[in-house]
Amino acid sequence: MAAPVTFAVVAAVALVALCGGGGARAQDMDNEWARNRGFYGGTGGGVGGGLLPQSDVDLLEFPLNLEYLEAEFFCWSALGYGLDGIDASLTGGGPAPVGAQTAALTPFVRDIATQFCYQEVGHLRAIKQNVKGFPRPLLDISAANFGKIVETAMNTTLDPPFNPYENSLNFLLASYIIPYVGLTGYVGANPRLLTPQARKLVAGLLGVESAQDAVIRALLYEHGLSRVASYGVGVAELTAHISELRNVLGRKGVKDEGLVVAPGQGPEGQTVGNIIAGDRFSLAYDRTPEEILGVVYGSGDPAKAGGVFPPGADGRIARALGRPMEEKGHRYIGTYITHVLASCRLSIHLTCVSVCVLL
Ligand SMILES: *[C@@H]1O[C@H](CO)[C@@H](O)[C@H](O)[C@H]1NC(C)=O
Repeated sequence: MAAPVTFAVVAAVALVALCGGGGARAQDMDNEWARNRGFYGGTGGGVGGGLLPQSDVDLLEFPLNLEYLEAEFFCWSALGYGLDGIDASLTGGGPAPVGAQTAALTPFVRDIATQFCYQEVGHLRAIKQNVKGFPRPLLDISAANFGKIVETAMNTTLDPPFNPYENSLNFLLASYIIPYVGLTGYVGANPRLLTPQARKLVAGLLGVESAQDAVIRALLYEHGLSRVASYGVGVAELTAHISELRNVLGRKGVKDEGLVVAPGQGPEGQTVGNIIAGDRFSLAYDRTPEEILGVVYGSGDPAKAGGVFPPGADGRIARALGRPMEEKGHRYIGTYITHVLASCRLSIHLTCVSVCVLL
């Protein structure tokens, strides 16, 4: 059934071109045809530069939220400016982040943060070469916001409040909060991707996000027993609290582990030191977009925006998850109607082609 239809459409596309002045229309039709079949073109020139199914587009666009966050946090901390100062076209005109600032870092940590910054810029470019994406969402990376996350993790009020920009150790602790969430998202997205093009991109992103997480964890591990200034809490202990908070917000059991774990929970149950997080086979944990939004919103609920994304994350997945239940129902109906309309437009195109041929 599919082959004759495909043949008919291909033949029709060729005929449109023959009808003269039809070049542009043929291209339109090709796009229409692709869209009708659930495929959607990227901006081209990407890893494969081909058409991606809508589900791959959605899964590739979702992590843009986290890549924007990482880019702004690392760039501002290291350099004192973010995407607007590096390549404003990458922001898509989205609002500047709230509370961004330079961090007081040792030259060693600033050097690493600078490399992370430009790695995230590369990630944004890579994703946007494959999918259209959306503008930078409003981000809150203020000291106060990070302070709130740490206080929630510690279940206490800290005086003075935790400030990620105050020194290298605090900055690394705040960094501990960031790439790991993206990493679990890439692990979760991988089995749901349909094309080698999308899987190749996600594997490349996952590799570097994991490496960033490992660098941050290794630097913190070296200071695992140090106390975080003014709070009398150890570095390793604080990471365990942050991971536990993410487990609670993700609502899917243990997918996050601090630098030290309970006996029996380290690799093969042999160590309590836990420099890299992993399940009982030391495989990276996965998270769904739903779990990730619960974590980054700080609400445990993908429909309740907040945290580092005050008005919410962007893209079709985050928007769909952000709607209350009954609205989601309407959305599915809306998608269905769009599909029907797309089919109608294709039929009209085909009718035009037939008329053109007859004349
Ligand atoms: C947080 O602290 C309060 C008061 O100290 C206590 O009642 C509550 O059980 C704590 N919550 C958790 C999750 O530890």
